[in-house]
Amino acid sequence: MQINLKHKNVIVTGASRGIGKAIAELLVDCGARVALQYNKNKNSAEKVQKTLGPKAHLYQCDFSDGLDISSFFNKVIKDFKKIDVIVNNAGVAIKSDPEKDDVAWIDDWLQTMDINLNAIGLLSKKAIQHFRIVGGGIIINISSRAAFRGDSKDYMAYAASKAGLVGLTRSIARAYGKDGIKAFLVAPGFVRTSMAQEFIDEYGEEYAIRDLALDRMTEPKDIAQFVAFLASGLADHATGGTFDVNAGSYVH
Ligand SMILES: NC(=O)c1ccc[n+]([C@@H]2O[C@H](COP(=O)([O-])OP(=O)(O)OC[C@H]3O[C@@H](n4cnc5c(N)ncnc54)[C@H](O)[C@@H]3O)[C@@H](O)[C@H]2O)c1
Repeated sequence: MQINLKHKNVIVTGASRGIGKAIAELLVDCGARVALQYNKNKNSAEKVQKTLGPKAHLYQCDFSDGLDISSFFNKVIKDFKKIDVIVNNAGVAIKSDPEKDDVAWIDDWLQTMDINLNAIGLLSKKAIQHFRIVGGGIIINISSRAAFRGDSKDYMAYAASKAGLVGLTRSIARAYGKDGIKAFLVAPGFVRTSMAQEFIDEYGEEYAIRDLALDRMTEPKDIAQFVAFLASGLADHATGGTFDVNAGSYVH
């Protein structure tokens, strides 16, 4: 079945590379118009936009700055008039050894929370306000297996930030369903992107695959296909749901 996203306008955050790029590419392929947010990677964001053509529009925004986030969202609404779906994909995995001094450690913690959780809280609030005016919409939050399985000592903030998205997504689904607003959580395992590269470089791909039930690493397109399905509205009665896309590495 070909997923049809014609006439749908979608915001994809962190669309300059990795999972966000794959999501943006597939959504446009399915007929959507997309607002692509990027932070620092202007060159690669422009390349993505050029490949996708007139259906893709670029927006720069640093999610560690709350005011910047508000004006980014307002600008997208001004340009697109109506948004149907927001995919909150942008995120960071900041390695932070608990042996660090307290000031440095809390700095890593706060930066992680700002980008991975606080920004998505604010974007969700703004999307809800917009969706209530236009008659509904879909929020797709990209969390992580780490929210459920936990992570290593160096990524406690990452796991905590991704776990925060669970409560946020479920609350939106339960509070705003009658307004036509649906919210989904996608929890990837290990996906072949630059975020995962440091681990692959250190331990090797074989080691990463040994942790999986399947025989190959999850690629960004494996996440994108699931997101396209959720964005289509075909899964609306699963609102509030968490969807593991982790090659069977953590089943719960
Ligand atoms: N790769 C994995 O193994 C994996 C596993 C589970 C979950 N995830 C999640 O998937 C999402 C995408 O990850 P990815 O692997 O494609 O990573 P990536 O590092 O390739 O891309 C991250 C994106 O987030 C954006 N971003 C980072 N800091 C930002 C900031 N301050 N303001 C605005 N945007 C910012 C970057 O510009 C980039 O586009 C993330 O939320 C990540 O936590 C990834």
